[in-house]
Amino acid sequence: MRVLVTGGAGFIGSHTVDALLEKGYEVTILDSLEKPVHLKGKPNYIPKEARFIEGDVRKRDDFLKALSDVQIVYHFAAYQDYLPDFSKFFHVNSVGTALLYELIVEKRLPIEKVIVASSQAVAGEGLYRNAAGHEILPPIRALKQLEAGQWELRDSQNGEILQWQSTPETVANPQNQYAMSKYSQEMIALNLGRRYGIPSVALRYSIVQGPRQSFYNHYSGACRIFSLAYFFNRAPLIYEDGAQMRDYVSIKDVVRANLLVLDDSRANGEMYNVGGGKSFTVKEFCAIVARVFEKEHLAPQIPGLFRFGDTRHSVSDISKLRSLGWEPQFTPQESVRAYREYLEEQTDIEDILEYAQEKMQSLNVVRTACKKGVV
Ligand SMILES: NC(=O)c1ccc[n+]([C@@H]2O[C@H](COP(=O)([O-])OP(=O)(O)OC[C@H]3O[C@@H](n4cnc5c(N)ncnc54)[C@H](O)[C@@H]3O)[C@@H](O)[C@H]2O)c1
Repeated sequence: MRVLVTGGAGFIGSHTVDALLEKGYEVTILDSLEKPVHLKGKPNYIPKEARFIEGDVRKRDDFLKALSDVQIVYHFAAYQDYLPDFSKFFHVNSVGTALLYELIVEKRLPIEKVIVASSQAVAGEGLYRNAAGHEILPPIRALKQLEAGQWELRDSQNGEILQWQSTPETVANPQNQYAMSKYSQEMIALNLGRRYGIPSVALRYSIVQGPRQSFYNHYSGACRIFSLAYFFNRAPLIYEDGAQMRDYVSIKDVVRANLLVLDDSRANGEMYNVGGGKSFTVKEFCAIVARVFEKEHLAPQIPGLFRFGDTRHSVSDISKLRSLGWEPQFTPQESVRAYREYLEEQTDIEDILEYAQEKMQSLNVVRTACKKGVV
């Protein structure tokens, strides 16, 4: 049986490719080797047993060629960033996914299952409760609030701080360009899949961690950013006040989830959060990275910068995936350790942290609050 993995040269895709080959599947990879993700060209971890097609999911001929003789599709190729080139998010993530279903239907391709990679970002600010215990789906925080260094979400009626909750799959409140494109991708996959009898599953990953995460993306990935800072013997930079809650999931657990939903037909037509099951503040996570790199003496800088469009707290409720028998098995400490090993194996890393930071600031994505550290 042949599986197509779009974005198979990337972080999650390549680990999934390895696991599929190990299970005896034949694999085709369709990947455009986007820069800056692949600043150094085709990664050497791509196995020679896989059929590699350098091509773009926006291009009909490339996708059609990649779909030849294929029965299963993992669709990981995506544009992910915080940069304001809004249309690119929809061209790659939404139109690319629509093209996949268009080709399957038009050419009557014998595809037995499609698994698409969505994101926790779709939930936006996620689920909150007010003091009276009522559920609230708050909108994005106002720029004025952030500029004043007021980080927490507040009740619009009485100004009280709202209490964050673990967010289930039923919540969709996408606020930024990436999240909106991922939400449309979920709808395309699940609704067109249902309508045309193509078993489809959408997986909303939390922050995924482990080796092969690109060093060169502009957008933040806490593990990569903090690890690179400590690797270069610098104090890492934390946005807002560092009290943002997040959940972090190991790439090994993600691959197990990817394979589980392939085999389990109960997953067809469903969406699942794939998260770490435990929440940490960004500051706590930074301390984990500092310990792993033995750089606890380098305290993080928290100068009151914020990234416009970021969510305050993002923690996924993973009970739905747990009901299929999946449980996260690896801790953030283990993921960071594996990332450190990977980082230390590299011979040609450029120090791009400052470059990425300056680029985001020049594009007005990262901004400074007037009153620093006020919550
Ligand atoms: N890494 C995370 O923490 C995380 C969290 C939530 C969701 N996701 C989703 O998981 C998927 C994989 O993410 P990742 O972290 O492995 O990213 P990645 O950047 O490492 O991999 C994505 C791959 O897609 C390829 N690609 C990009 N645009 C393409 C195009 N137009 N045509 C063909 N290939 C293209 C890139 O070259 C890259 O190899 C994405 O859909 C992403 O939105 C990732």
